[in-house]
Amino acid sequence: MKYLVVYDSKTGNTEKIAKEILSAIPEAQKEIKKVSEFTGNEDADVIFVGFWTNRSTCPMSVVNALELMTEKKIALFGTCGMGGSEEYYDSIKKNVEAWLPEECEYLGCYLCQGKMPESVLHKYEQMEGKVPKEQLEAMIQNYHAAKTHPDSKDLLDAGKFVKDIVMKY
Ligand SMILES: Cc1cc2nc3c(=O)[nH]c(=O)nc-3n(C[C@H](O)[C@H](O)[C@H](O)COP(=O)(O)O)c2cc1C
Repeated sequence: MKYLVVYDSKTGNTEKIAKEILSAIPEAQKEIKKVSEFTGNEDADVIFVGFWTNRSTCPMSVVNALELMTEKKIALFGTCGMGGSEEYYDSIKKNVEAWLPEECEYLGCYLCQGKMPESVLHKYEQMEGKVPKEQLEAMIQNYHAAKTHPDSKDLLDAGKFVKDIVMKY
């Protein structure tokens, strides 16, 4: 079985997970690529596709790469700023899954929280008085909670996700 990890990462969170995923694949035949280097001609049976969350879905770079992945086994992984809500994670997963090519075999999605740049906190601070106080406080709290992610447990869970898939194929 040949494995490929393809990912997009703006600030490094998804890249961290991508590297962990690569190292968790026990097979010798494995490769990692940024999505910008992906051509669609790569020789791989299983592709792990990584995304950062952009407006509740994956970036267009990942959508475009998925379109080139015909008749492959595809596993998704990603990071997002929001944490603590399985419901929210499920909605992101659903949004990204919608971009999977029909002829692919879908193996599942691993998602975890990823820290956000300080500009996000500044944006929140400027929202004072414009959104309900409680809502804003929750957003700021989430910003601080995200700061340590992806953490060692996130990496461990990513490794488990890979092991479960590799065991089956
Ligand atoms: C333009 C932009 C849009 C974002 N949209 C969302 C979003 O809709 N939901 C979310 O949970 N996080 C969102 N985020 C946060 C990132 O997905 C998160 O910080 C992610 O871990 C970044 O991954 P990276 O370091 O691999 O780029 C957004 C970040 C940016 C810069």
